[in-house]
Amino acid sequence: MMSTNKILIAYGSRYGSTAEISEKISIILKELNIESVVLDLKKIKEKHWPSIDEFDAILVGSGIKMGRWMKEPQKLLKKNKDKIKNKEKILGLFVSCSTVLDDPVKAKNEYLDKIMDKLKFKADMFDAFGPVFDFSETSKLGYLTKKLSIAGLNDSGNIEFDPNARNDLRDWDQIRSFAEKFAELIK
Ligand SMILES: Cc1cc2nc3c(=O)[nH]c(=O)nc-3n(C[C@H](O)[C@H](O)[C@H](O)COP(=O)(O)O)c2cc1C
Repeated sequence: MMSTNKILIAYGSRYGSTAEISEKISIILKELNIESVVLDLKKIKEKHWPSIDEFDAILVGSGIKMGRWMKEPQKLLKKNKDKIKNKEKILGLFVSCSTVLDDPVKAKNEYLDKIMDKLKFKADMFDAFGPVFDFSETSKLGYLTKKLSIAGLNDSGNIEFDPNARNDLRDWDQIRSFAEKFAELIK
């Protein structure tokens, strides 16, 4: 029996997509009577990160840029890799990325399997979710990044998007189903 049902959802997000996914997972867990704490690893200094000992399970997420996780969520995983390896904590991993739109298997290989291989542990659950591409006026993407991203999406050919709007290409049913399965794991 677990002492509590407290989950840490720790994320790194450059443009906000992984942040929103994390908040949504927390809401879904709440509906299932599971308390969680959402932690922005970039905003909160490392010395103020809570210890994972305070939680029964952890979910760690990152946005992908140029094939890479953000460094903060990687740091959290590295810091706790022994506890994870010893199966002291239930662990879930997720990413927000565009590769998943073309090739979900490749997305999982590149952005999840590789990091688990590197750290020599296997998460109990892991999944790759879709991206947000914000091409609206209020986008946080710089001019050049916007241009390059639009060109990249045009090249890939089969992704429908609006070059003047915020494109939410995440599958919220997939995210819900991931959260519900994770909830099952800790019950
Ligand atoms: C400059 C830039 C580079 C990106 N590089 C990749 C990439 O290498 N692979 C990928 O699958 N997605 C890539 N993406 C898509 C992002 O992963 C996607 O926008 C994601 O939602 C970002 O998450 P975040 O807002 O939490 O940082 C890139 C996006 C941008 C803007």
